[in-house]
Amino acid sequence: MTVVQAERIPRIISMTNQVGGSGKSTSAVNLGAQLAEFGYKTLVVDADDQCDASVALGYMFPDQIEGQKNIYDCLTDKNVKLADAIVPALCGPLGGKGTRVIDNLFLVLGSGEMENAEQHLTLATNREMWLRKLLKPIKGDYDVIIIDCPGNLGLVVIGAILASDEVIACIKPGLKELRGLTRIEQKIEIVKDEYEEFGAHAELAGVLLVDVPTHRSQGAVWDDGKNLAVNTYGDLVLPPVRRSTKIPESYAHQKALLYFDRAGDATADYLAIAKRMGFKRLSARG
Ligand SMILES: Nc1ncnc2c1ncn2[C@@H]1O[C@H](COP(=O)(O)OP(=O)(O)OP(=O)(O)O)[C@@H](O)[C@H]1O
Ligand SMILES: [Mg+2]
Repeated sequence: MTVVQAERIPRIISMTNQVGGSGKSTSAVNLGAQLAEFGYKTLVVDADDQCDASVALGYMFPDQIEGQKNIYDCLTDKNVKLADAIVPALCGPLGGKGTRVIDNLFLVLGSGEMENAEQHLTLATNREMWLRKLLKPIKGDYDVIIIDCPGNLGLVVIGAILASDEVIACIKPGLKELRGLTRIEQKIEIVKDEYEEFGAHAELAGVLLVDVPTHRSQGAVWDDGKNLAVNTYGDLVLPPVRRSTKIPESYAHQKALLYFDRAGDATADYLAIAKRMGFKRLSARG
């Protein structure tokens, strides 16, 4: 049996913003879960030392699992392949009662040691190529790869942009946050200019507003942030993710929204985002 595939295989998408707490990990995990549910074989790469994507997908201590490699091992030891750090994504905590594997969703385990990644990469040759090189042998195994970046624009993130087809900038709505996007745009251009000969071609493919207040009582930025973003970025602005207490709650339960609050607003928002990005439910072909 074959399955209808994504148009370009794989689509490699980086979730970025140099600002911390802008919804990158939440979006990587919940978009990933939605795409997996659509039937795309999806890999989430946890490139942030805070390991939030790993936690949300069941692995509270991703760098303390006996005999299990993680992304930092891959970065620092050339004998460790990315495949060695890939595990099935979980719904619920690893080892927890009722925890189960999420079909089609996989994770490159993160590591707290990624806080040393910049230092390590500074001394490495072809340092900007680190993730592109690691992904090369396995990328054909996936339909979609989503990279959860740390909240900066350092070498780890440059490596992620260089490995990507698409960059999504995640932001909480506001003038200051929108102004910060120009730095991401500049970085994408620099990576493309300097590494074109190595295949760098990522584009800013989406501006994703998260934690958007749903009524005035939640703050004056109601709708204003979205209007400002649309005026500046037009069609690049993806459907926003509404503010929802289910998001921090689902993280605390280590469950993707789809499995924690299936009928919820934020769950519906990630579905709308997936569709706007051109993904659709895949049908099995006999
Ligand atoms: N739509 C939302 N509604 C309510 N809370 C949200 C929403 N989106 C994100 N959050 C909360 O905002 C915080 C930051 O989100 P998240 O961890 O996804 O951001 P991040 O960009 O990955 O941060 P960091 O740069 O620290 O890695 C989290 O506590 C998350 O639960
Ligand atoms: Mg994060």
